[in-house]
Amino acid sequence: MAEQSSIHGLWRSRWLFILAAAGSAVGLGNIWKFPYITGENGGGAFVLVYLLCIALIGVPVMIAEVLLGRTGRQSPINTMTAIAKDQQVNPAWAGIGWMGALSGFLILSFYSVIAGWALNYVCTTAMGVLDGVSAAQSGETFSALLASPLTLLFWHSAFMLLTLAIVSRGVNKGLESAIKLLMPMLFALLALLLAYAFTLEGFWQGFDFLFSFDLNKLSSDGVIVALGHAFFTLSLGLGAIMAYGAYMPANVSIGKTVLLVGLLDTLVALVAGLIIFAIVFSNGLEPSAGPGLLFQTLPVAFGQMPFGTLVGSLFFILVAFAAWSSSISLAEPVVAWAVESLGMSRMRAAIVVGLVAWVLGLGTILSFNLWSDVTLFGKTIFATLDFLTANILLPLGGLLIAVFVGWRMKASDVQTEADMGSGVLYALWRVTLRYIAPLGIAFVLYNGLK
Ligand code: TRP
Repeated sequence: MAEQSSIHGLWRSRWLFILAAAGSAVGLGNIWKFPYITGENGGGAFVLVYLLCIALIGVPVMIAEVLLGRTGRQSPINTMTAIAKDQQVNPAWAGIGWMGALSGFLILSFYSVIAGWALNYVCTTAMGVLDGVSAAQSGETFSALLASPLTLLFWHSAFMLLTLAIVSRGVNKGLESAIKLLMPMLFALLALLLAYAFTLEGFWQGFDFLFSFDLNKLSSDGVIVALGHAFFTLSLGLGAIMAYGAYMPANVSIGKTVLLVGLLDTLVALVAGLIIFAIVFSNGLEPSAGPGLLFQTLPVAFGQMPFGTLVGSLFFILVAFAAWSSSISLAEPVVAWAVESLGMSRMRAAIVVGLVAWVLGLGTILSFNLWSDVTLFGKTIFATLDFLTANILLPLGGLLIAVFVGWRMKASDVQTEADMGSGVLYALWRVTLRYIAPLGIAFVLYNGLK
């Protein structure tokens, strides 16, 4: 049933698919979330489990997800419906698409709030508010931001509008042009900051924290967070990568492309970790500061370095850009579905999706201030959304994708579309997808939720 094109358009080249998928993968997950959950979970052992999850579960599932998208050439919901029919299996497999749509709304709702923090920091840094701040002052600035629902609301709204502006313009005019410019700049700035971090006295202490592992420090909670983060950071389990796969030209090798995206994503996370922990240890900060880690630590470094105001503003601009190229992929699956199945214009679909996510985002905003004592299972609204999506819904989505492609689709169809030949690579992917990924996910989910 392999179609050659989609009604939404196609990426104009292999590189654009790589940039788009990397743009989706590299985001707040790498720069904001990875460092703080590593700090909360004790460092090295957590990083090791995370890397194993990326290699043994994330990459194989990502190949499967791209493959599904390129086979179906539609939004994840319609792709899954069509493939289930074509393969003559239970139509309920379309549930992968529906569940992904739900996760997409939930993640986009809080993602936009956090990206709003980055926008806020672009302004405060550029205005020189953070020049020469001490670690304590930087912490206070951050707390003051969280304490103000209106400021958070303003930036959340601004970010959601930015997301809609791109998604409403479609694949080629919107997504491609944005990504081509932003990704290279992000890599350049990270390299610059890494060079700076290297000059700090705490660099090697940070390095040790990230890479020397003591398995005793790892809790079963840590394992589920590591697995969940592997999904979150690679944009898996929700259909985002499936949607992007639907726009992938037919002659591109899925396996090689996915490997490259996985490597880029991991590299950015590790570099972000090295930068942040160098600053943390050089300034006597707490690695386990939680979600504010990035925003509390970096201004301290920017305040001390030459041209700090400039470098700092640029950095937060790029964090916002990285978040931007990710948030569009959270909205794309549902927007594409609404265009296909509800006959909406892209513009209207984007507005509706954005509005729903914007309203949901209010819960996250309030969970940092007025509703900070509203809790579910001892977690705030934000923490609940984060846990439910990253640690439950995404791995579950990934499990279903692995089982579907590994066990329910005809092997010959899969092999043709994967186009990896019949060599070692293909065999390796088959085995990880059919056995290691599903068993690994099921085991971690079961233990983590028990
Ligand atoms: N991967 C992105 C990040 O690390 C977030 C993201 C974008 C995402 N699209 C997704 C997460 C789809 C899960 C599913 O910031």
